[in-house]
Amino acid sequence: MGRNKLLAGNWKMNKLNGELAPFFEGFLQELGPHRGLTEILFAVPYTLLAEASRQAKMHGIRIAAQNVHFEPSGAYTGEVSIAMLKEVGVTATLIGHSERRQYFGETDQTVTRKTVAALAQGVMPIVCVGETLAEREKNQTEAVVRRQVEAVLEAVPDPKDLVVAYEPVWAIGTGKSATSAQAQEVHGLIRGILKKRYAAKADAIRILYGGSANPANIDELLAQPDIDGGLVGGASLKPAEFAKMVKAGR
Ligand code: PGA
Repeated sequence: MGRNKLLAGNWKMNKLNGELAPFFEGFLQELGPHRGLTEILFAVPYTLLAEASRQAKMHGIRIAAQNVHFEPSGAYTGEVSIAMLKEVGVTATLIGHSERRQYFGETDQTVTRKTVAALAQGVMPIVCVGETLAEREKNQTEAVVRRQVEAVLEAVPDPKDLVVAYEPVWAIGTGKSATSAQAQEVHGLIRGILKKRYAAKADAIRILYGGSANPANIDELLAQPDIDGGLVGGASLKPAEFAKMVKAGR
């Protein structure tokens, strides 16, 4: 079944509004006119969302948040709701990135609540899962990924718009990507879990790989049967590098 590739940049806590126009200009120039069916998305800091949405929209590029709160409004100092994201043109959000799980107390429970809320309000959730190095070394990769994925699926009867990102924590920002075989093994596992829950509908769900993906390894990663795109940190900050990766998805 055809799944359009999705190349998603994750800018993390980087860039200011003044850097947006030069970035998009360079990126679009490198990309050229032939984009094929590959979807392009950037997950940017809250302060950039409005301006990035405005600039990206006319080029068919989606802008995502990096996190969101599950409640619609209320006494949650420092948090941002889904309606607030939608107001500034945001159509997607990362949920449960490992840095949120590691440093900001994100749990399977909050990830699930956020995913349910995003789907209900028409914002595409990119749900991030992945094992730490210690977990991989103890042969717990399958158990950890299964637990993280199943927690969300239990609460989601209809997976339309759901995107899953497999990001082994040991590969994030380390320059040490998973091999395409290691990645495919876990992507295949995730596809199996999705199939068990959603039957044929699982074939339409995109599973992205993240963790030191770069122009040199993206072709091999995207050639795997269950790798449907990338969630790209470091390399997405550089227009030429990320444009090369998007082209690999054609
Ligand atoms: P990286 O980050 O590409 O810099 O390893 C990926 C991510 O954290 O989404």
